[in-house]
Amino acid sequence: MTPLTRLPAWQALQTHYQQVVELHMRELFQADPERFECFSLRLNDILFDYSKNRITADTMGLLLELARQSGVERKRQGMFAGEKINASEQRAVLHVALRNRSNRPIRVEGEDVMPGVNAVLAKMRTFSERVRSGAWLGFTGKPISDVVNIGIGGSDLGPLMVTEALKPYGRGGLRVHFVSNVDGTHIAETLRPLNPETTLFLIASKTFTTQETMANAESAKRWLLEAAGAPQQVAKHFVAISTNAEKVIAFGIDGQNMFEFWDWVGGRYSLWSAIGLSIALYIGMDNFEELLAGAHAADEHFRSAPLEGNIPVVMALLGIWYNNFFGAQSHAILPYDQYLHRFPAYFQQGDMESNGKRVTLEGTPVDYSTGPILWGEPGTNGQHAFYQLMHQGTKLVPADFLAPVESHNPIGEHHRLLLSNFFAQPEALMKGKTEAEARRELEAAGLDAREVAALLPHKVFPGNRPSNSILFKKLTPKTLGTLIALYEHKIFVQGAIWNVNSFDQWGVELGKQLAKTILPELEGQTEISGHDCSTNGLINYYKATR
Ligand code: F6P
Repeated sequence: MTPLTRLPAWQALQTHYQQVVELHMRELFQADPERFECFSLRLNDILFDYSKNRITADTMGLLLELARQSGVERKRQGMFAGEKINASEQRAVLHVALRNRSNRPIRVEGEDVMPGVNAVLAKMRTFSERVRSGAWLGFTGKPISDVVNIGIGGSDLGPLMVTEALKPYGRGGLRVHFVSNVDGTHIAETLRPLNPETTLFLIASKTFTTQETMANAESAKRWLLEAAGAPQQVAKHFVAISTNAEKVIAFGIDGQNMFEFWDWVGGRYSLWSAIGLSIALYIGMDNFEELLAGAHAADEHFRSAPLEGNIPVVMALLGIWYNNFFGAQSHAILPYDQYLHRFPAYFQQGDMESNGKRVTLEGTPVDYSTGPILWGEPGTNGQHAFYQLMHQGTKLVPADFLAPVESHNPIGEHHRLLLSNFFAQPEALMKGKTEAEARRELEAAGLDAREVAALLPHKVFPGNRPSNSILFKKLTPKTLGTLIALYEHKIFVQGAIWNVNSFDQWGVELGKQLAKTILPELEGQTEISGHDCSTNGLINYYKATR
């Protein structure tokens, strides 16, 4: 296989970059009034405008050629066909099967996974309806009022992000809480206001061995048993979501109360599986299935739309353009919707755990930059925090702006104010403010020549800072499902081009191993000397100070 940097399209892009790097988007917009039409795509009620990027038709042509030459179409087909594309773990990658509402057979080693997927969905429906209707009773015969999901990483961030995003659909129902951090403060503060008689715990862990989750689950069990007494009461208050039945039963959870999923579901792609049980309990199974339907629509688009009209492919290629040719280090996700406040954090795991890789699928160190640092906060808060750097700093930060046309809370002028900022920021980043414009403004404000000269450099905005704008009708379960799946596929395409395994995460292991060694060293008085002097010094300071 030809290495990425030797592909003809990659080399052509390097030359092309030199030709276009000095072009300003202002000029590109002036030269082409059709630019918005040329560089925007639609999927159902989602508009994806990528015209405010440092691209020409030639750039897109070359980027699309890069996608073809690096085998994106073949790799995409492999994922949908259940091939073991997660080579280092010898696993298929089939989160698309979890939301395959067409029920088209999807096979892993010749076996159709759809009957199993549908059986778990049916079990989730029965269970969530029992709990939501008040038929499921706690140890004193009271219905459940609060659900606590205990999980971390992919077993936490997805359900947390989605239940926050879909709050309008959960109003008046069960309350959901999330405990992830092994810091005892997280579980202590979460449980403080709750009543054990009416609290249901979901222990969400693919492996059922994750230290943080197991420690929190044990503390939750102790908290329940302090009130409930008899260990058999655990069955009324604990369910497990896992691939590891043996460990679930060893923990004391009734096998009947276990929701299964499969090794072909990656943790950070698992909210569509039973890991989404907290979502179903909160918004109801019909809405959960709408979320799946939205994701399925994105899957069908990704699977069948031609590359040039394929939103996740275009998103991915633009990311590659900035990451690998402009040297951008990061990418910002900026939702102008308070309900999406955990969306950037969710994709921090989604993107950085997937594509934060340094070797190719074949194990050779890459000679190009891979996954970006992903970050973001909801607008307009970000505007008053870090946008300064985006507008006038020395770093290029490509960004995605997301907003709904309609708000779930149409109070007074709020939504128009929010949207005016959503429209203004990408425009400001793109256009900037020239020296002549800044000078005119200062002179119009009555400043004398000396004052103008002193202030002028500070008032200039270079502009030419790229962004995508994603405008959708309303944040419904379906639209949210589509948006999440579009980003997932963007990550897939980038991983395919960088030729990395986007579906393993060995990088999280070393810290875990070292923590296991250190844990027993924290006991007793013996001075520690087996590490580097910094780690020894820190541990010994802790031991002397506690
Ligand atoms: O951080 C590593 C990781 O393995 C993630 O990929 C995963 O989402 C998380 O830990 C939790 O794992 P589990 O669901 O097995 O508890």
